[in-house]
Amino acid sequence: MEYAEPPDPILGVTEAYKRDTSPDKLNLGVGAYRTEELQPYMLEVVKKAERIMIDSEDNKEYLPIEGLADFNKATAELLLGKDNAAIREGRVTTLQSLSGTGSLRVGAAFIGKFLPGRTVYLSNPTWGNHKNIFADAGVEWKEYRYFDKATIGLDFEGMTADLEAAPDGSIAVLHGCAHNPTGVDPTREQWGAIADLCERKGHLPFFDVAYQGFASGSLDDDAWAPRFFANRGIEIMVAQSYSKNLGLYAERVGAINFVLADAAAAKRVLSQIKRIARALYSNPPVHGARIASTVISRPELFAEWNTEMDEMAGRIKSVRQLLYDELTKLEPSRDWSFVTRQIGMFSFTGLSPKQARTWLPGRCSLPCCNVENMTQKHHVYMTKDGRISLAGLSAAKTPALAAAIVDSFKV
Ligand SMILES: Cc1ncc(COP(=O)(O)O)c(C=O)c1O
Repeated sequence: MEYAEPPDPILGVTEAYKRDTSPDKLNLGVGAYRTEELQPYMLEVVKKAERIMIDSEDNKEYLPIEGLADFNKATAELLLGKDNAAIREGRVTTLQSLSGTGSLRVGAAFIGKFLPGRTVYLSNPTWGNHKNIFADAGVEWKEYRYFDKATIGLDFEGMTADLEAAPDGSIAVLHGCAHNPTGVDPTREQWGAIADLCERKGHLPFFDVAYQGFASGSLDDDAWAPRFFANRGIEIMVAQSYSKNLGLYAERVGAINFVLADAAAAKRVLSQIKRIARALYSNPPVHGARIASTVISRPELFAEWNTEMDEMAGRIKSVRQLLYDELTKLEPSRDWSFVTRQIGMFSFTGLSPKQARTWLPGRCSLPCCNVENMTQKHHVYMTKDGRISLAGLSAAKTPALAAAIVDSFKV
C-alpha cells in the first residue's frame, strides 16, 4: 500500500486539537454538544431509560436484520407524525441502522442496486461524508448549487436551476433541517417549490434528518419538510440519526425509512434493504435503540426529552446571539447578521482556506489562510470550509472567539 489517506476533514480536526497543549484551545470542529463548561453531556432522560432497561432484564440476543420493532415504529412516528396516513396505510418501511451514516449507506446501496444509472445530487457544500458514502456504494454523485457566498444565504435560483437541469428521475439529497455546514434552510414556500420540481421531474428526494428537534427545539417543526413531501404523496427516502438530539453519538442509533406509493412496494423494499444490511453488518446494535424507543414511547420520558432538547437548542441559540453581539462590538462596520440568521449547530463563518488547498490542522508552519490563522494563532480548531460548531462554544469563550474571527478576516 503506497498511498495513505489524509486525516478525515472533520474527525481529523479533533485529532489535531488533542495534540495542542495550549490552555486556550477550543474545538469547534466536530458537531457534538457540550455544556457551558465544555464537557460532553449525557441526557438525564437517557440515564432514566437505561435504569428502566436494567430493571427489565432484557437480553442481548441478536436483533432481527431490520432492528428492534418497537424502535422502528417509534422512529417512523417521530419522523412523520403519529397519525400519518402513509404509516396507517402500511406504505412506510423502516429499517434500524447504524445511526445517520449507516442509514445513508444502506440507502446508497439500495440506489446503487435498484436505481442503476441514476445520479445523486448533493448540495454544494454538504456534510463531507455524503460524498464518501455514495462513492463507496458505487453511486455517481454531482452537486447542485446551494450556498450564495455574497448573501451568505440560500442560492435558491441556483439550486432549482441545477435540479431542473438534472435528468428526470435523479436523486436529490436534501437536509431535512439545519443544513450542515451552512445552517441555511429553504423557507416553507421554497420547500413547496422544491417539492413541485421533484414531482414534475420524477426526482426521488432523499432526506438526511440528523438534527430533528435539535435545530429549533421542536421535533415537529424540524420534521416539517419530509412530512410535507410525504403528505403530498411524493415517494421519499429518509435517513434519521439520534446522535445529536438524544446525545447517543457512540451508540449508533438511526434508521432508513422509505415512504412509498403502496403497501406492497413497502414490503418489497423492506425485503431488499434487509438483504443489503445482512451483508454490510448483519443486524444493528440493541442498546441505543432500546434507549430511543423507551424515551419516545413513555409519555413522561418523552416530555422530559423535549425539555432537555429545548435546553440544548436554547444554549446554542444564546451563544449564537452572543457571538453576533461580540463580533458587532469589535467590528461594527461589517454585517454579521448571517450568524443569527443561520440555524442549528453550526455557523458557516465565510472564513476560507484560500490558497491552502492541502492545508491540514497543525501541519503548516505559517498561517497562509484565515482558517489556519484561527488554529495556529488562536488555537481555535474548525473545519477548513470555515464551519464552526456553536455546540462546542461556551459563553465564556465567545469574546475570544469573536476576536479570533475578526483578526483572521484580516489575514
Ligand atoms: C448532515 C449530517 N448527516 C448525517 C450525519 C450522521 O451522523 P451520525 O452517523 O453520527 O448519526 C451527520 C453528523 O454530523 C450530519 O451532520
